[in-house]
Amino acid sequence: MTVKKRKLKKSFKIGILCLFIVLFIVVGIKAVNLFGNDKEPDKNMTSYITKNIIDKKENAVIKISYPTFGYEEFDKMIESAVSEKEREFIQEVIDTREIAPDLIGELVIDYDVFKTDSLISVHLLFSKYLGGANYIQENKSCYFDIKSKKVISWEDLFEDPNDALRQLSSLSLKQLKNMDADLWEEKTMLDEGLMDKKENFENCFLEDHGMLILFPIYQVGPRSSGNIWIILGYDQVNSLLKKDYQGAAPLVKNESEKQEGERNLRDVSELQDKKLVALTFDDGPSYQITESLLDGLKERNAKVTFFVLGSRAEQYKDVVQRAYMDGHTIASHSYDHKNLLNLDAESLAEDLNKANKAVLDATGADPFALRPPYGNYSQEVIDASKMPVVLWNVDTEDWKNRDAEITYQNIMDHIEDGSIILMHDLYGTSVEAALKLIDDLADQGYAFVSLEELERLGRISSDADVISGFKN
Ligand code: NI
Repeated sequence: MTVKKRKLKKSFKIGILCLFIVLFIVVGIKAVNLFGNDKEPDKNMTSYITKNIIDKKENAVIKISYPTFGYEEFDKMIESAVSEKEREFIQEVIDTREIAPDLIGELVIDYDVFKTDSLISVHLLFSKYLGGANYIQENKSCYFDIKSKKVISWEDLFEDPNDALRQLSSLSLKQLKNMDADLWEEKTMLDEGLMDKKENFENCFLEDHGMLILFPIYQVGPRSSGNIWIILGYDQVNSLLKKDYQGAAPLVKNESEKQEGERNLRDVSELQDKKLVALTFDDGPSYQITESLLDGLKERNAKVTFFVLGSRAEQYKDVVQRAYMDGHTIASHSYDHKNLLNLDAESLAEDLNKANKAVLDATGADPFALRPPYGNYSQEVIDASKMPVVLWNVDTEDWKNRDAEITYQNIMDHIEDGSIILMHDLYGTSVEAALKLIDDLADQGYAFVSLEELERLGRISSDADVISGFKN
């Protein structure tokens, strides 16, 4: 009995041990797999985390988006920068509430990713509102060396950081003057903003066209100038950069060739009997994503509408220009995505004018319509914009799901004649979904049209105050 018991006990023990070994191997393989995936993230960076909190209890609206790349050290760095700002903001809201109990604070954390073969640069943009007329903006830059798989610092980009600062200072001044930017008139203020110290040039990012530098509001120009972006070609900055980060000099663009020629518009009579859908893209433009979308639309002879941010239209002027020349409608999504309901009359007018000017500079035409950020508008916004407020009736939530299949399905579930579909030309997944949609629905009598085409067809009127669909 006891022997048998002991034997049983022994075989039980061996069984448990075997089970553990098997488990260990399975978990081990899984872990290796996961780890392996970590080491080789998707080159196109389709993996993102987007957090969206609307926290009524704390009397605050918080919208947070940030990227993750599958590089642990880099992801942690970005995440901790984001959560630190979030904690800081919530504390500020709690403190402010004692003085202003009705205040609804707002925190928006957004980002840009810039990539070359050797480097990922991330720009984190923190925008917060704690009452008053102004938003407070802060920026942070993070860098990751793709070859060594290590987080690097701003200084690591340069052969000699101090020398680079002196060069960047004079190169930037030259570029700002070339651009005809609205700079501080007072020389001491401009000198201060361009002095060769790191704080003045720490928002710099590398991408295929060269080095982008962001001068946040007030640094080199008055408030009305907003954030100013410049781009310095690799022919100018290669000598400052470490060899690994140098790039090919940008293609020389033939400005006159781009300006000339007719806009590629369609004869709308061919659309008369079709079921019409307006695809609309907010928050852009961006280089690679918007350009790949434009290529795909051209191939398919589809027209869409871009609700661009004025700040980005300034930065990616050539992309806006191309979209316009390809026959798409360019509309405004405000200057830099503030909740327009939080702006006083003067700031509102200033914001809208700056956005309109950015579109005018890129296309030679005024924007066709306004889509206020978050769809938030009032009679005051309608009056100030002097153009129709265009909303949407199908929300793809593409910014949240960042998944081509889900985005596509969200559209397919709701699409009909008269749909205005909200998307964003910031994500490869959105472009993929849009192009698949156009391909799949071509045989079902659908045509994809711009707002201008809808007006020419008499389905919408640019005299309308608010447009949220165009059902016959
Ligand atoms: Ni938006």
